[in-house]
Amino acid sequence: MSAVLTARDLTRHYEVSQGLFKPSAQVQALNGVSFELQPGKTLAVVGESGCGKSTLARALTLIEEPTSGSLQIAGQEVTGASKSQRKQLRRDVQMVFQNPYASLNPRQKIGDQLAEPLLINTSLSGSERREKVQAMMQQVGLRPEHYQRYPHMFSGGQRQRIALARAMMLQPKVLVADEPTSALDVSIQAQVLNLFMDLQEQFNTGYVFISHNLSVVRHVADEILVMYLGRPVEMGNSELIYERPMHPYTQALLSATPAIHPNPDKPKLKLSGELPNPLSPPSGCAFHQRCPHASERCRSERPILRELDNRQIACHHAEDITH
Ligand SMILES: Nc1ncnc2c1ncn2[C@@H]1O[C@H](COP(=O)(O)OP(=O)(O)OP(=O)(O)O)[C@@H](O)[C@H]1O
Ligand code: SF4
Ligand SMILES: [Mg+2]
Repeated sequence: MSAVLTARDLTRHYEVSQGLFKPSAQVQALNGVSFELQPGKTLAVVGESGCGKSTLARALTLIEEPTSGSLQIAGQEVTGASKSQRKQLRRDVQMVFQNPYASLNPRQKIGDQLAEPLLINTSLSGSERREKVQAMMQQVGLRPEHYQRYPHMFSGGQRQRIALARAMMLQPKVLVADEPTSALDVSIQAQVLNLFMDLQEQFNTGYVFISHNLSVVRHVADEILVMYLGRPVEMGNSELIYERPMHPYTQALLSATPAIHPNPDKPKLKLSGELPNPLSPPSGCAFHQRCPHASERCRSERPILRELDNRQIACHHAEDITH
């Protein structure tokens, strides 16, 4: 099986103004992210606010150019692709945002919004488009009469179903979902997550599923990528990471997540302290000010991502930390 998405060392920096007469500063929003995504599989990207999740999403969906690094979509290199190739590549990677209302046009009927990608990208006739839209609407749990309605007439959960339907109309190879259920009531989050999974199974789409909440992604993820201040700190098989997290940051994130069956033998690690200022990141390991295992080495030398125990991890003391 060949990967639908291959990221190598993806990096994105932003120049930010610090005010008049002051030199501009740099935010290293994304630094050295590499992964491969297989068709029908889900990579979950987790981490606290500001760790670079949405920056990664924008790079993967070609909304923004990376500062460096490379990206392949279904084996095709994005950098250096011609205009028409990029157009095709954009079709192949669709996105669902946290706020479905923002991605829907309030003045256009739902049916027409769902038909639009077909109108722009295919030569299907009006009735063929309508047929496809009706079929997709049924799949996401909307009724035929919803075709004529406007976004404001739907609940948040229904709007996210519509946004998902729209993203899937052209059967993309990859779907990037940035916190797609965070704005929804807890009671309907599970339904929407199930819908994501049903569509993935049907179309064999590769998902990059972004969330700050590890419990949300537990049942959807095949692989987990944990990020801290723009850098990957732990990445590997989802079951393994949930069962045996090795990075102190992953352990802390998991401790903060309510478990269905809490294990009393597992020590509780609290995530204390504030996130560092991204404009002046800490020396050495960016997590050292909050890490209970930090040593002198951690304060001066940045740990590189390395293979250990069937995963990739960036921590000097991963071998010595008990779990
Ligand atoms: N256009 C921009 N210009 C300058 N800095 C930016 C820009 N976009 C993001 N950043 C900075 O890059 C870092 C990563 O931001 P990003 O939005 O990717 O984080 P996130 O993980 O999606 O956070 P959240 O969970 O709050 O959505 C932050 O420090 C943010 O302030
Ligand atoms: S490198 Fe050091 S500070 Fe960073 S997570 Fe590992 S033990 Fe903690
Ligand atoms: Mg974000």
